[in-house]
Amino acid sequence: MERKQIKIGLMGLGTVGGGVWQLLQMNRESIAAKTGLDFEIAKVAVRDLGRKRAVPAERLTDRPEDLYEDPEIQVIVGVLGRPDEGRHLLAAMNAGKHVVTANKAAVAADYEALREAAERNKVLFRYEASVAGGIPILHAIEQSLQGNEYQELMGILNGTTNYILTHMTEEGADYADVLKKAQELGFAEPDPTADVEGIDAANKLSILLSLVFGARVLPKDIPTEGISRISGADIAAAKEQGCKIKLIARAAKTDKGLEYSVRPTLLPKEHPLAGVNNEFNAVFLKGNAVDELMFYGRGAGALPTASAVWGDLIEVGKEIAKGAAYDLVVAGGPAEA
Ligand code: HSE
Repeated sequence: MERKQIKIGLMGLGTVGGGVWQLLQMNRESIAAKTGLDFEIAKVAVRDLGRKRAVPAERLTDRPEDLYEDPEIQVIVGVLGRPDEGRHLLAAMNAGKHVVTANKAAVAADYEALREAAERNKVLFRYEASVAGGIPILHAIEQSLQGNEYQELMGILNGTTNYILTHMTEEGADYADVLKKAQELGFAEPDPTADVEGIDAANKLSILLSLVFGARVLPKDIPTEGISRISGADIAAAKEQGCKIKLIARAAKTDKGLEYSVRPTLLPKEHPLAGVNNEFNAVFLKGNAVDELMFYGRGAGALPTASAVWGDLIEVGKEIAKGAAYDLVVAGGPAEA
């Protein structure tokens, strides 16, 4: 059988971009055998052309525009991780490219504009990797769980802070030292303030609020508190009460309406979310038909996040091959609040 070629423009070659490149080197043959699609990362946009990289130099550019202005490229992967990435994603859609992204800040901030641009340009827009890394939570909500209404959502949505809290709790490690380690491991954002102040978790909760409750809430409107003021003494006091401190993103329907927040929370040691450690994430959902569900997996890191990006890429590739890409984008999507 002749394989159909799908050409990708990879916008960003940091932790996640590197993982997206690496996964294709690892699994290109098995993906092609399973799907009949031969994916090629044709061009890669980086900030610094001078640095030595795994990608051949002739595929590199320092202009993201070169990717979406290339008529041969069909899909743009947006993993620059910068807050202004949304404008490139919009430009890519306006140039007729399908878009896959892991950038939660851009998705949360520009959600309506991105969905509207996808619809207007009849391209696909997928963002599974933007929430909870390798956990396929958005697909589960948009597909397998479509028949439910929800009462509650609770999650550990940031790997860096969970890694820090785990090591402070288990080894009495120093906050600044563990943060440095989380940065070295590639879990943290370029500016880790977004992690430790809860902003990254609020971006992810904003996306989940759209999909789970059909409520559009900007991250800045989610009451948010991070972990930068949690001390060793706070952790010891929690332990004495048989509890652990976790950074919890929560949303629930109450008599007063939909309530939501991101904040350090005391959880009894027996609580399922208390056993989620290191960079692992977990999402607990309660639907009115399915009842309680919990999803667990690595929420940060190169290959786990690339796994979610590739799930989206292969889905887009299959739709391109069928010539039916647009059907998917109009089918999904949250209602406005
Ligand atoms: N900085 C994020 C985290 C990366 O630590 O969870 C994954 O979104």
